[in-house]
Amino acid sequence: METKIIHPQEIEEAVNAIKKGKLVSFPTETVYGLGADATNEEAVKNVYLAKGRPSDNPLIVHVASRKQVAPFVSNISEKAQQLMDTFWPGPLTLIFKLKNAESLPSVVTGGLETAAFRMPNNELTLQLIKESKTVLVGPSANTSGLPSPTTADHVYQDLAGKIYGVLDGGASFVGIESTVLDMSQENGVPVILRPGAITKEQLEEVIGEVEMDQHILTEKEAPKAPGMKYKHYSPKTPVIMIDYKTDDWQEAIDSYKKSNKKVGIMTNPEKKKLLKNYDAYYELSKKYDVVEAMRYLFAGLRKLDDSKLDLDIILVETYPETGAGIAYMNRLKKAANQKIFKK
Ligand code: TXA
Ligand code: MG
Repeated sequence: METKIIHPQEIEEAVNAIKKGKLVSFPTETVYGLGADATNEEAVKNVYLAKGRPSDNPLIVHVASRKQVAPFVSNISEKAQQLMDTFWPGPLTLIFKLKNAESLPSVVTGGLETAAFRMPNNELTLQLIKESKTVLVGPSANTSGLPSPTTADHVYQDLAGKIYGVLDGGASFVGIESTVLDMSQENGVPVILRPGAITKEQLEEVIGEVEMDQHILTEKEAPKAPGMKYKHYSPKTPVIMIDYKTDDWQEAIDSYKKSNKKVGIMTNPEKKKLLKNYDAYYELSKKYDVVEAMRYLFAGLRKLDDSKLDLDIILVETYPETGAGIAYMNRLKKAANQKIFKK
């Protein structure tokens, strides 16, 4: 299969492909998704195959309006309404109890009694969903385990030959996947299963108390979102974090250079100015800024992983684990397999 890059003015082609049960990657503000008709079991099975994704890991159902959620779920609480009012379209996924087991094919939900919904903030993709007259599954459109794609080109690198096409909507501006919030416990406190650009504090401003799944902070408890337990986001080149508290960038570079390793660094220009002897640099942010670093984290990991650079190690900037820093560090720690440079 020849995978097509579909330009915005050719969107009808993407619509027709989705209607025929084919796989089309779509742009969103977070990362690119791998789209297929969520009500077409065969199409959804092919999504797992194309990504090489474990089949017990449920998918997010992407909608173009709130009205599209109601037919599938048993109840949308007052709090959930308020969250949709405030954050949709946007990087917030909400988990609801399903109306009944047949509401969606079990390949979508991994056999759970709940399902995840999100309205992405991208005009092109909202149009794609609307005109397809269905709802779309949309896992990140990467090969399972690799960094998530934030451009059509990233999707093409991973999935060329395996999917019908990629709808090219430019680079994603958030850069990491949505916050996943479990709203399925009618009377319980909503729980963040996956941190994202929308922070616990922002959610609490709207609906009061919200909990963070303990797994996110301690890595000890088993995660409640099935997808959080898998190896993730890792380029082939090993990634090491540089602790912002000790700031031992040059020590790290020197120690790897001493053993003849080629070193790539992901940081900001001010930091770079103070460093020497590295082999490649990627500008993660213009200034030390976590929102910008989040936007370019996956793109940078892919860039420095390019075999032409032939790096042995990638060193990446860390941030305090508060606010948006929680989501950034969650992804970076997975990419680095928790490894932080120690003198
Ligand atoms: O930003 C995003 O959310 C992107 C874009 C493309 O929309 N999509 C995305 O999908 O990240 P995916 O499939 O890579 O991640 C979905 C996450 C997984 O961690 C999965 O386990 C969790 O959501 N999830 C889905 N349904 C769930 C459910 N019913 N209960 C608990 N976790 C669920
Ligand atoms: Mg993913």
